[in-house]
Amino acid sequence: MSKYMQLFQGTSFSSKSPTEIQVLTDCLYCINADGMIERVVAPEDTEYQSLLDTYQGSDSFHRLEEGQYFLPGFVDLHVHAPQWAQSGTALDIPLYDWLNTYTFPLESKFSDLGFAQKVYEDLVSTLLANGTTTALYFATVHKEASLLLAEICAGKGQRGLVGKVVMDDPEQNPDYYRDADTSTALMDTEAFIIAVKELAKTTKQGVYPVVTPRFIPSCTDAGLKGLGKLAAKYDTYVQSHCSESDWAHGHVKDRFQKNDAFALHDFGLLRDKSVMAHCNFLDDQDAELFADTGTAIAHCPISNAYFANSVIPVARFHAHNVEIGLGSDLSGGFSPSLFDNIRQAVMSSRMLEDGVNTSLPAAERGVPKSRITVHEAFYLATAGGGECLSLPIGRIQKNYVWDVQVIDTRLPSAKLPIFDELEDVQDIFQKIMYLARPEHIREVWVQGEKVHSR
Ligand code: GUN
Ligand code: FE
Repeated sequence: MSKYMQLFQGTSFSSKSPTEIQVLTDCLYCINADGMIERVVAPEDTEYQSLLDTYQGSDSFHRLEEGQYFLPGFVDLHVHAPQWAQSGTALDIPLYDWLNTYTFPLESKFSDLGFAQKVYEDLVSTLLANGTTTALYFATVHKEASLLLAEICAGKGQRGLVGKVVMDDPEQNPDYYRDADTSTALMDTEAFIIAVKELAKTTKQGVYPVVTPRFIPSCTDAGLKGLGKLAAKYDTYVQSHCSESDWAHGHVKDRFQKNDAFALHDFGLLRDKSVMAHCNFLDDQDAELFADTGTAIAHCPISNAYFANSVIPVARFHAHNVEIGLGSDLSGGFSPSLFDNIRQAVMSSRMLEDGVNTSLPAAERGVPKSRITVHEAFYLATAGGGECLSLPIGRIQKNYVWDVQVIDTRLPSAKLPIFDELEDVQDIFQKIMYLARPEHIREVWVQGEKVHSR
């Protein structure tokens, strides 16, 4: 009897630290029945050949071909699942108008379970095909459709963390799209948490309920307080939007005479399992509160270019030891690909560092020390995301889950510009980061199970 469920052979890239890549050349990855990496065996190790002899030729042995590499599956920390239906459109007006003109009317349609099923099935398959093995989702205010999203993640093998969105303030939300009242919002949230915890028992990869006040402007004080209590009672994840735009940040300051971070904290919503989207306008005290409470930031670089009126100072927040991961923010961000968001994270940080207004002298134009490298952006999309969620995901190493994507750099129809005479393996990594498209992702595995191939 073989000891391991699967044995993989090939070269992998994974983060050693936020700034450095670990390259494991032609290693063996031994996966146990729980889908965990039990051992990584290097070619120079004594057991390498005997493991190969045992597994080669069996169905549980998988060897990468020349030009193929393992990357960790991506962790997308911020996805509005219903907004997939409008991705790539509606990016022409500011956040407040965008929500009321396009987004709330769209999300209200998810009372229709047939429509929800069509959009959610397509989204989860698309994200898996883009290498996203774990996703933190906002669904809609509808309890049933939110549960349906969790069921679809469970069925397709994605690690989905799903929130039924709460918008309980009748003064701030349209009558056609909100919770009936505060107590209904809290009862629905509690029933949703219990149902997803039950569903999770039927999955290998896990699905998780998330307490989800949309953002402070859409919720009453009583709603926010009740949600903080539910998060503590069930020890759940929490997600919301925090200090995203001039308008959203200013709204909270007017209402509470304090920043979002401290207002959310007052309601018990900043916890080790909290992930707050955007956070562009956090000041140093807010950042310290995030670090102290273990609250993480979902950095959404594409969306920020449209709605956040700013570039987030990622490097400054990292210096405060705040946990940061990457989010697509579909559909505020148009792309379902975290490769695209990695690229935008790097480019935006360079523009922040250098500045953009050429009527100013170069020395006054930007914010020094703001740039992040592509290695750091990759870290945000993988290991950083895993740390934000306190899950053993996002790295290819012992005691982490086998969540990987297989990248094929030699696809005949989309070959990457890799020329053996020149190549350093670090350069191959960078070419994958900048040039990979979904067609290069040949296989995706979650918790030791294949969930996508092409
Ligand atoms: N703030 C409140 N709701 C949303 C949303 O759906 N997208 C973004 N980007 N910001 C929000
Ligand atoms: Fe968002």
